[in-house]
Amino acid sequence: MSFPYEFKEVKPEELKLLKNVYKVPYRFGRLGPSGTIVTAAYMKDAANIYNMPLRPTDVFVASYQRSGTTWTQELVWLLANDLDYTTAANVPLVHRYPFIDIFMSIDTEQVDEIVKCICDSSMNAEKIRQYVNIMGQPVTGMVAAMPASKPRFIKTHVPMSLLNPKLLDTAKMVYVARDPRDVAVSCFHHAKLFKLMQFPGGFKEFWNLFHRDLYLFCPIFAHVKEAWEQRNNPNMLFLFYEELSKDLPASIRRVADFLGKSLNQEQMDRLCDHLSIESFKKNKSINFEEMKELGLLAKDESFIRKGKAGGWRDYFDEEMTQQAEQWIADNLRDTDLRYPSVNK
Ligand code: A3P
Repeated sequence: MSFPYEFKEVKPEELKLLKNVYKVPYRFGRLGPSGTIVTAAYMKDAANIYNMPLRPTDVFVASYQRSGTTWTQELVWLLANDLDYTTAANVPLVHRYPFIDIFMSIDTEQVDEIVKCICDSSMNAEKIRQYVNIMGQPVTGMVAAMPASKPRFIKTHVPMSLLNPKLLDTAKMVYVARDPRDVAVSCFHHAKLFKLMQFPGGFKEFWNLFHRDLYLFCPIFAHVKEAWEQRNNPNMLFLFYEELSKDLPASIRRVADFLGKSLNQEQMDRLCDHLSIESFKKNKSINFEEMKELGLLAKDESFIRKGKAGGWRDYFDEEMTQQAEQWIADNLRDTDLRYPSVNK
């Protein structure tokens, strides 16, 4: 099966910095036209992801991580499934959406090392071994075997250049983007939440890696721009986290139109309530309960967190604020992509 890109190891000095984030000794490399950071394990399924056979009923929810993917997934799924709250409550989101690139976070040849890195004496190492082993298995085979009678909902964080180049000729994609400063803060907490990462430092140290494109799926701007370029394709719906945050009903209507669905005021009110950050915090179907029970999540962090647009201001000092402004200006110079402004 053809795959046009080669995995290139990151430079030794970059690897040294990346190791600050990841406790597990991953082999990081860059892949594709934008030099996206992936692990070596990604190559196990890179060609299958790139050549994935598609169906007209497929709906991809894609993003750079921590941009509002979960929010968008639940919204898309509920609209596409005629507001079936019962199934949404009973079937965890992770089972409703195969996540085609998650396997790369576990190198199955390193399972012993991983288990040693993340387990303390209070944890069930054998159960964790089984869990991470399953997590490290590619899912494109399973996705291909899903019944043709039902639409498939697929989650991904890989940029469009690593997906099937003809994806939008057949399938639909909802892409969600977010102010990269808020993404950086959210990724920082994410790196603290997951025991697989356990980032040891403070936000400034994290920021120094992130804005140098040293984090999984970076560079973020290339990721977003690849999708932005497709925003007028009828099979692409490009959303901003900030728009969902500012006017959720308007975003819901856009998604509904895109999926050919409609909803009345009562249905709209219920959906807005269901999708509120307060409801999401309590929603067991989207909160990685299984990982929590296994002890794989830090107790003082949570997957659904503040849910605020513009919260980065509480984390950035003057130096970081200026660096960020410059970083954003440099990266938006060659595009008409602009992140919606957020009131202070
Ligand atoms: P914060 O960490 O800034 O709170 P993803 O799903 O792509 O991993 O994105 C996670 C981010 O989306 C987190 O941001 C999370 O709190 C936020 N989020 C999730 N559900 C949300 C909701 N219902 N309303 C607002 N923000 C939400």
